[in-house]
Amino acid sequence: MSQWHDVGEPDDFPDQAVWPVRAAGVELAVFRLGTELHALHDRCTHGMARLSDGYVEDGCVECPLHQGLFHIATGEPRCAPVTEAVRTFPVRVVAGRVQVCVEEVTQ
Ligand code: FES
Repeated sequence: MSQWHDVGEPDDFPDQAVWPVRAAGVELAVFRLGTELHALHDRCTHGMARLSDGYVEDGCVECPLHQGLFHIATGEPRCAPVTEAVRTFPVRVVAGRVQVCVEEVTQ
């Protein structure tokens, strides 16, 4: 079951940058693009690189390992070697807190 999880304040996420967070046992890369916040699974679909270590430019994040490119808003691949989209998670701001909707990890 998916639930909203608090991951911080809007000011915790600098514009045009990425920040790693963990919610419900899931590692996430949270991005701010102007007034928009986005969350992606913090793993490149090509390998095990963390997208939170990536480079943000023009609405995309470049994987630090082989320079594959993902569109941040949709998770879609934009440049080889990545061919598979990375999972996206809904983000909202409620009462000044950033929340990400993540499915609970059951053991
Ligand atoms: Fe990300 Fe290869 S691990 S492009």
